Amino acid sequence: MKNKISIEWYDEIDSTNTEMQRKIDALENFSVIAAVNQTAGRGQRGNTWHVQEGKNLTFSLFLKFQPGELEAADNFLLSEAAALAMLDYLRGEGVECKIKWPNDIYYKNKKICGMLIENTISERNISNSIIGIGLNVNQKDFPAGLVNPISMSQITNKAYSLKEELVKLCGCLSSRLTLPFGEGMANEYEECLYRKDEFHEYSDCASGKPFEGKIIGVSTDGKLCVETEKGEVRRFAFKEISYII
Ligand code: BTN
Repeated sequence: MKNKISIEWYDEIDSTNTEMQRKIDALENFSVIAAVNQTAGRGQRGNTWHVQEGKNLTFSLFLKFQPGELEAADNFLLSEAAALAMLDYLRGEGVECKIKWPNDIYYKNKKICGMLIENTISERNISNSIIGIGLNVNQKDFPAGLVNPISMSQITNKAYSLKEELVKLCGCLSSRLTLPFGEGMANEYEECLYRKDEFHEYSDCASGKPFEGKIIGVSTDGKLCVETEKGEVRRFAFKEISYII
């Protein structure tokens, strides 16, 4: 059964993930904090997440788990479920996207959505998770320097109500993130991977060396499996590989 999500909107906040961290003890399972504007939005790898005020969705979803429900070693399931929920929602809006491992959402070669998932671990279990999502919705111009951004509006030529879209998107998140996770979710995630089964250029972050490889899947612990031209399969953790796009 799907959980009902309650949404609290702020006009302005530093970061919805940070606000959730501050309120963590008082938060209910499946609560959402959304902001019209974030003044210190956080991205992956310590980056800042920039948005144009009032144009895009920036929000965080809080999930609470009982002891034994979700092991810390299975944390990648949260990335899979959240990324698939985003594809479900975008497909419903007529925007066909792919998942750029681990959980960026790409339209062709451009990034439409990013996620910052922050888990609290207690005795090898995940006790709660903050799933922060930034989705480019109505923004038409992006500052130079952002890597390959695109918005829903640029693709469909429509203008969206952020509040209405967030309700629809939360429905998709609730369906995918309610335990138990759907059977075959890992396979479905792999099938939706950006650049799967095609040779492209990557960079090995440890050596800085570029190489040609083909993404063939993701291991159960969330590592990206890339086959090289010599047929060798290399497994990369987050921050160990970068895509050359
Ligand atoms: C990334 O791709 O680098 C992740 C971006 C995540 C941005 C969202 S916006 C809502 C939530 N609050 C934050 O401070 N970050 C996430």
